[in-house]
Amino acid sequence: MGNRIPEAFIEQLLDRVDIVDVIQRRVPLKPAGREFHACCPFHDEKTPSFTVSPQKQFYHCFGCGAHGSAIGFLMRFEGLEFVDAVEELARNAGIAMPTLQKTAPPSPAFEPLAVAAELFSRRLEQHPPAQAYLQQRGLNQAMIDQYQLGFAPAAQDWLLQELRRQNYSMEVLDRAGLVNNGRDRFRDRIMFPIHDRRGRIIGFGGRAMNDYGPKYLNSPETEVFHKGNELYGLYHARQRNRPPRLLVVEGYMDVIALTQAGLEGAVATLGTATTPFQAERLFQTCNEVVFCFDGDNAGRKAAWRALESTLPQMRAGRQAAFLFLPDGEDPDTLIRAQGLADFNQRVQNATPLSEFFFQRLSEGLRMESLDGRAQLVAAAQPYLEKMPAGVFRDLMVEALQERSRHQGFRLPAAPAVKRSRKVQVTPVRLAVAMIVQDPILCQNVELPDLSEAEPPPGFELLLQLIDFCRSRPHITTAQLLEHWRHREHAKALEILATLSVPADAELRARELRHIMQALEVAAVAQKIETLGQRQASGTLDANGKEVLRALLARKTALQQISRDTDPE
Ligand code: UTP
Ligand code: MN
Repeated sequence: MGNRIPEAFIEQLLDRVDIVDVIQRRVPLKPAGREFHACCPFHDEKTPSFTVSPQKQFYHCFGCGAHGSAIGFLMRFEGLEFVDAVEELARNAGIAMPTLQKTAPPSPAFEPLAVAAELFSRRLEQHPPAQAYLQQRGLNQAMIDQYQLGFAPAAQDWLLQELRRQNYSMEVLDRAGLVNNGRDRFRDRIMFPIHDRRGRIIGFGGRAMNDYGPKYLNSPETEVFHKGNELYGLYHARQRNRPPRLLVVEGYMDVIALTQAGLEGAVATLGTATTPFQAERLFQTCNEVVFCFDGDNAGRKAAWRALESTLPQMRAGRQAAFLFLPDGEDPDTLIRAQGLADFNQRVQNATPLSEFFFQRLSEGLRMESLDGRAQLVAAAQPYLEKMPAGVFRDLMVEALQERSRHQGFRLPAAPAVKRSRKVQVTPVRLAVAMIVQDPILCQNVELPDLSEAEPPPGFELLLQLIDFCRSRPHITTAQLLEHWRHREHAKALEILATLSVPADAELRARELRHIMQALEVAAVAQKIETLGQRQASGTLDANGKEVLRALLARKTALQQISRDTDPE
């Protein structure tokens, strides 16, 4: 939420991107008349009911009702927030994002964190032992700069004093996680700033240069730092060209060593098991993720937990694999000893998720016995049930059928896909639907005169819509819906954008004319009725009688118009 993007920017952005490109890159589309179709990525189906209209710049699945603009598609497909989806589209189209109108001020904790990183970095330049340590670890200056490495001196309150001098209150420094027991939290450590997706520093990891104290100390959970949500190095990986895959490792040093060796896309969990949230983040960046773990027992356990977090993300087009390292090695030591080519080879040979899944579940089971195979089925089922329905899960089910030699194994039928809501079609709704789907219709339509009559429900929206479309003659359905996204009736417009309307432009124009005339006829009839009653009770004055006569004439004229314009 928080940030509002100017509407003009959204409209421009949707002018520049083509929804067909955006979707095509993620879901293979086939041409079908003036549209494109595919099997819907949002529900499991064998025959395509997912359509993309280049003209409307809008997608719609007739099966599950999913629909929207390129922005809406990205939000749904990549699991992005609105602002992030806009950002992603803009980045791909090479359009600079506008400065956002901030609705909520950012946390005051960001600023001292950024200043602290600056101070640590300058301190490193003045502290030869820390530089010597990094050199001995093989890091070059480019990496030190890129990852903004720094040094926190051993003094008890060096940072606090520096920051207090710059007028940061103790309270704010505490909120930033820089304080522990009234002293500097990080002392005598190499400092690794941790960035969020926008590149803001949200916390630090600090590595002891000596063998006392914990080897690594991380920022505590604060209002800006949530360990389970962040991945070290993801910001940097996204800054460069999108890497072909992400490699998830355990340590800060591993990320930097891999990057320095020329391997793109290394990120680290922050000393915790991969969370489902992190898994989601990973797949939002790349369709291929390789998890890298120690080959020992602890490593395999951690890999299994990563697998559990990853399963809900698995769908067609996405891949996950597990790379187990030789005993006593980590990516840092391995790539230094064996080089990039060797490491890449290991990545290529990583164990696919499905293989690791069945291997691990079959461990200790006697697969040649019926019993063992039945146990495998029982163990696998709950995991498969947690996976999103789709091709990937189908393949997993098939693999289970083969391994268990139980061809009859099926997952319990998933609940039927939710159908799109049925709306009752009134003339006003049909008019709105036709205009939303073909805004150019508004240009020549004559508005009915409903003065003094009670306008039918939805008429106000219809007028707003016509007004808006007339001011934007080239607007598409998608742009129109995005304009309404944060306005009243957004949902109604969206639903009407999927309502079936006459396919032929000529027919649509005629239908719209009919509706407008019918609305006026109804309004005139309503007024004639009221005035007629007053005349019958003798309370209609001369002026009223004049109006009534005019209305009756108008009614005849309207009937004449509709006979003339649309001979049956
Ligand atoms: P490792 O112990 O494998 O360290 O911890 P490392 O990354 O190889 O570090 P170097 O090479 O000795 O410098 C892996 C990760 O686990 C977290 C850190 O994020 C670390 O990078 N960790 C480790 C901690 O948070 N605290 C610790 O005391 C140790
Ligand atoms: Mn290491």
